[in-house]
Amino acid sequence: MNSQIPKFLTDKNLIPNVTINPALNSLGTETAFGFGAEVIAVEASGKFHQIYKFHVGDTGPKTPQPIIDVAIEALKNKQTKYGHFAGYPEVREHIARYWSKTRGVEFTKDNVLLQPGGKPVIEMAFQTLIAPGDKIIVQNPGYPVYDSLAHFYHEGNVLEWKAYKNEDTQTLEFRVEDLKKLLKENESVKVLCVNTPQNPTGMIIGREKLESIAELVRKYKFYVLFDDIYDQIVFGGHTHTSFLSLPDMKNWTINLNGYSKNYAMTGWRLGFIIAPEWLIEIFGRLAINKWSCVNRMEQIVAGTVFGDVTLDGHTYKSVHNAVQTIIDADFKEYEKKGQFVSEALKLLQPYVVPNEAEGAFYLFPSFARVLNLNYVKNDLGIADEKQLSKWFLYEKGFAVLAGSDFGSMGKGYIRLSYAEDRDAHIIPGMKYLLNVVIELIEKSGEVAPLKMEEIGGRVSELVQKYFAEELVIA
Ligand SMILES: Cc1ncc(COP(=O)(O)O)c(C=O)c1O
Repeated sequence: MNSQIPKFLTDKNLIPNVTINPALNSLGTETAFGFGAEVIAVEASGKFHQIYKFHVGDTGPKTPQPIIDVAIEALKNKQTKYGHFAGYPEVREHIARYWSKTRGVEFTKDNVLLQPGGKPVIEMAFQTLIAPGDKIIVQNPGYPVYDSLAHFYHEGNVLEWKAYKNEDTQTLEFRVEDLKKLLKENESVKVLCVNTPQNPTGMIIGREKLESIAELVRKYKFYVLFDDIYDQIVFGGHTHTSFLSLPDMKNWTINLNGYSKNYAMTGWRLGFIIAPEWLIEIFGRLAINKWSCVNRMEQIVAGTVFGDVTLDGHTYKSVHNAVQTIIDADFKEYEKKGQFVSEALKLLQPYVVPNEAEGAFYLFPSFARVLNLNYVKNDLGIADEKQLSKWFLYEKGFAVLAGSDFGSMGKGYIRLSYAEDRDAHIIPGMKYLLNVVIELIEKSGEVAPLKMEEIGGRVSELVQKYFAEELVIA
């Protein structure tokens, strides 16, 4: 057997008799996709009348109709051939103008490249900016693709900006002092990956911290791969600061953004990069080698989200205002759902300790005390959050992701997405989760913070508070 065959192939008994790239041993994955397939399988088995879906990194709302109408119009006009490799100039001009306005710094179309989804720039940045021996810093916990691709391309040169964990409150925080220490102790850091609002925690890194990071950039000269793909999904009195808007940071930022999350277009695969011109030039070359171009229909859509687009003599009207009204309503709904879920989880304190909903559509509650329960450890034999998430799915029909799927700092945590439909998943799902956890506490011989018979009333109060509607839950 060839020792270079990566473990994920041998685990599945898929062992071809060939020699392949040993770096594949370092390639991770995004559990959300694999786990999603398991959820579908459990659903199909018919074991549960419903699976409550809190695992999805997808949007609950559907793509706004005006966007779909533009796409149909483009297809009816047979806009089906190759498009411009970087994005039609008018499309990129619209994006540049919108970015200049919202970020407060001037951009031109030469700072913009369309890409299929938000993801591709992660790989391209690591391929472009890291010479042998240079280092990358990724957040822990963080969106797993950063860690996976950093290791795949630059194993041995990946550093982690670990969130600081307050053991008393179980809260996590990305502290600049920890980043400073990393930079002081390690030479030749070339890329720092920063995501805010963050997946998986839903936390926001505010202006003050970003300003301190900018100071570090000036001192140590590294690029920031700034991922604000959830930039419009911000609430609870928080605001989003773009790293680009800080003095001189335009020259040090590679901005990953796109349509997936804000515009509920995850399956379309449409995103863009904002970066210094010379980097866009390189990314454009890589793009031609990798995917040639984003398809024409989507290029037209990408532009009309911000302004009129004319292609082959036909003008597609801007859908900006109509779409913004729709998505603003989606963001309000996310906010209410996030606050509802966080408060519902607080009913389980100290067994479950949630964070506050700040942005994106995720919460990252600590389940450490649940994992420590006698019944959970000894009777169910659950050793960690990965096994707990499997048990939730296979035995209870409740789907969440393990915090450690996002890095070692997620140990003891669960990632809970509140993107799904409020009435079908969020409200009844939280009521169900409260029941499940209280049962675990009681079976362990401990006194639960809430009695079973109180759950309905307490959840009703929260529904009233956040949704101002009569509670009708099965
Ligand atoms: C933080 C973060 N960055 C990037 C992406 C990738 O976005 P896309 O689906 O547009 O490639 C995701 C998707 O979940 C994400 O959560």
